[in-house]
Amino acid sequence: MSEVCRETVLNEGGAEALIGVLVGMGLVESASGDGRYVLTDLSREYLAPGSPYHIGEGLFWDCTDDVPGAYLAGVGQTTATASWSTEVRLAIQHSRNFAPSVTAARSGVFDGVTRVVDVAGGSGTFAIPVALDNPEASVFLVEQPTVAPFVAPYLRKYGVADRVTVVPMDVFQLDWGLDASDVAFLGNFLHDQNDDDALVLLDRCSRHLTESGALWVHEVLFDERPGRPQIAALWNANMIARGSGGVQRTYDEVVRLMRQAGFADFQRIPTSGGFSLVGGRKVASREGVRRGDDIGSSASGITRSAHAPAAVARGPAAAGGCRVILAGSSLGEAFTPALRRSCRGLEGTVPRRIGRA
Ligand SMILES: C[S@@+](CC[C@H](N)C(=O)[O-])C[C@H]1O[C@@H](n2cnc3c(N)ncnc32)[C@H](O)[C@@H]1O
Repeated sequence: MSEVCRETVLNEGGAEALIGVLVGMGLVESASGDGRYVLTDLSREYLAPGSPYHIGEGLFWDCTDDVPGAYLAGVGQTTATASWSTEVRLAIQHSRNFAPSVTAARSGVFDGVTRVVDVAGGSGTFAIPVALDNPEASVFLVEQPTVAPFVAPYLRKYGVADRVTVVPMDVFQLDWGLDASDVAFLGNFLHDQNDDDALVLLDRCSRHLTESGALWVHEVLFDERPGRPQIAALWNANMIARGSGGVQRTYDEVVRLMRQAGFADFQRIPTSGGFSLVGGRKVASREGVRRGDDIGSSASGITRSAHAPAAVARGPAAAGGCRVILAGSSLGEAFTPALRRSCRGLEGTVPRRIGRA
């Protein structure tokens, strides 16, 4: 404790109080019962600046105020100020999303896939493991034109640069101009959208897929209890702080949107870090899309809403201050036995804690 006081601005009472909180959060643990504390593997992996999975500024993702403007009465909009370069943003996404996406790719449902598109694929957290595990598959990663050029270094690092085709494109455009895929993956992107835009996005996936092709959404899901599980409430708080109109959803809410966009035969597969895959098969009938037209339409199909409606907080959004919320959303429940098992074979390229399992 005295060491902590020497190195920080804390007095002994403050150090004791905050270390207690860090122990409760699983970031620090008692070393030997003699009063010494050490970082847990979780902290060493994600919080130590020397680690390849250092989450860095990602702890404060678009959220630098103690109470985000989006939470405040009379403000109601984000005060997000993050202005990271594309490289930094992709690095943060990769640190945070790679491990759960590997678990998703290795869940079994993608085995033997022939043509797969990773929609808004970021650094390739899903495209990389799916390409590694399915050498015969054609893998496409769609990203914003401004971001797409920054994806190649990640693909090279994992040896799949010649296996994954990066497609610079806005995924909201009506016609993707790509040959149809039998599988589409939508990781961590539906939660950025309000319901109107989510429906447009799902419609674009449906249009792109082969008849009876499958869409897999990968998200941290709420269950039916308000604010539960905590990891979903933390992510949800982050979405609301960012003010895009996005929210975390329950399984039923995701299914409702997918059904409206023309999918059926739903299933849920929990992966890791609080994430689940929600799968649906495209059905021939486009009835759902017609229904979707009711909430934002044009003659050529569903159009994206011009203004995101105010998001509705469902979790303990304001509890504890923004920075704590972000720490939790980035790291909470990141490591599970299933995750460690599923990452075998990627040792050295995934967080060490996983590789050691
Ligand atoms: C939260 S990240 C998720 C990335 C990846 N799927 C993952 O799970 O690691 C969302 C990604 O969507 C991309 N994106 C945002 N808007 C987009 C658009 N209109 N078209 C294509 N990509 C977009 C962003 O650049 C970002 O990389």
